[in-house]
Amino acid sequence: MDQDVLRHAPLFSELDDESMTALLAMMGQTRLKRGEVLFHEGDAADRLYAVVSGKVKLSRAAANGQDSLLAILGPGQVFGELSLFDPGRRSSTVAAVTDEVELASLSHDDLLGLLDGRPAVTRGLLALLSGRLRRANDVIGDLVFADAPRRVAKALLDLAERFGQQTEEGLHVRHDLTQEELAQLVGAARETVNKALADFAAKGWVKLESRGVIITDMERIVRRAG
Ligand code: CMP
Repeated sequence: MDQDVLRHAPLFSELDDESMTALLAMMGQTRLKRGEVLFHEGDAADRLYAVVSGKVKLSRAAANGQDSLLAILGPGQVFGELSLFDPGRRSSTVAAVTDEVELASLSHDDLLGLLDGRPAVTRGLLALLSGRLRRANDVIGDLVFADAPRRVAKALLDLAERFGQQTEEGLHVRHDLTQEELAQLVGAARETVNKALADFAAKGWVKLESRGVIITDMERIVRRAG
């Protein structure tokens, strides 16, 4: 397990060496293959997870039988804390979107022990929850007020921030999502999202790839998202 990813994960980065060693000793390891489900919405819960490598998708089943994607999480990002602080069942289904996913996990009891006397971790968790609420508010606002191409541009920027790699051609964003999954993340029909992406590509703002895009004109994409 790549311990550096965990050391640099925002939630744990404030821990001193001794606490980090204790944390690593308490953590379990889980591996998933693409499509494999870690847990389902509604399952009983007792662990927090951190992504060490690969990406997972967090989804919820909507009333019409469609899935909606709440988030794509990658290395250093943490999930599975809601059911600890707001006791109840898992609030989303988590599945692997990359060929391999490596996760480190911590039981909720061990997490509570870790929080005792370590205000930096408590503050980190509050920052994580506040950031998620802020993002969820943005998404709700956008679903009501933003047109689909704008939501597509925003989703690309969000993925680019975490997964983008600068290349000569532009910012290479390998999101690992199918067209259907990208549409579920944006909250629009697949045809609508494909049309927006094709339009961006025709204008020379992006190049489309299977499970990725290259943003060739960042300024225009930022403007379209604004
Ligand atoms: P939990 O309910 O234990 O299991 C599912 C996890 O998905 C949840 O904890 C959160 O960690 C995570 N989660 C739920 N909703 C969101 C969201 N909107 N954005 C990011 N992560 C979320």
